[in-house]
Amino acid sequence: MGWESGIQLKVLVTDKVDEKLLNRLRSMGMVIDYKPGIQRDELLKLIDGYHILVVRSRTKVDREVIDRGTSLKIIARAGVGLDNIDVEYALKRGLVIINSPNAATYSAAELTLTLMLMLARNVHLHIFDVKNGKWSKGTYEGVELRGKTLGIVGFGRIGRAVARYAEALGMRVLATDIIDVSRYANELGVKLVSLSELLELSDVITLHVALTKDTYHMVNDDRLRLIKDGAMIVNTSRGEVIDTRALLNHLDRLWGVGLDVLEHEPPREDWEFKLIQHPKVIVTPHIGAETVEAQGRIVEELVANIQDALERVRNHG
Ligand code: MLT
Repeated sequence: MGWESGIQLKVLVTDKVDEKLLNRLRSMGMVIDYKPGIQRDELLKLIDGYHILVVRSRTKVDREVIDRGTSLKIIARAGVGLDNIDVEYALKRGLVIINSPNAATYSAAELTLTLMLMLARNVHLHIFDVKNGKWSKGTYEGVELRGKTLGIVGFGRIGRAVARYAEALGMRVLATDIIDVSRYANELGVKLVSLSELLELSDVITLHVALTKDTYHMVNDDRLRLIKDGAMIVNTSRGEVIDTRALLNHLDRLWGVGLDVLEHEPPREDWEFKLIQHPKVIVTPHIGAETVEAQGRIVEELVANIQDALERVRNHG
């Protein structure tokens, strides 16, 4: 289908986004239907007739959704990860997929730091006790991050931002990636090692990888065994990167675990609730990009990318 420039584009937005994004798209002459939290059945009934679908991580855009969207031309992901979209199939169907890969870098990196610092000083335990009337001074001795070794798995934008913050804290930083990141490692004074070495040597391990077939459960029982006693693990990437059930068996010997992501969001399995309730574990509800600044930048980045995608669709569609 070729697109006339005059066609009024219909946009379906199925996850919570900043109001400004909706207004910007309206000001571009688009008709917006904002349905955050829409359930799958309704989405399947509704999708036909829309030209652009805007989602965050909650909406699963699989083959069925793509097939039902017969007018669909652009899938816009307000965020970084594309793991909730069947990218291969969408591309085969000729759709353009865009995202906003830069917008939330510092928000995600700051949350990673927050979880590391909270774990180190047992802040979550103190908050819980103090709110429940117990003055917990003297109960949970913390550790400093200064002088400790941080292992960053995935040295992309967020991993590198975490490395800069960690350096300011006086940590020694190791990193690993599947692609050649030596240029960045040299710039930042970070030592590149293999994944196994990183797991063996680090006091704090933080994960910043996309979810793919290769990273699904990459931190499995065998790899967890490599991690030293008393280490911390932080995951602000995707829950499925860690085999959570295996992780439960290692909690006793670890210092603590900070997770912004779970294998199911919201959690639904017994083992996920066990993890959440465990005193050594901090769980936040996937808030890596939930800041005023990140959401504002997502609007700018996504609008620019949608404009660019429209040009491409109009020229080649
Ligand atoms: C992302 O991939 O952008 C993040 O996980 C944040 C989100 O979708 O809320």
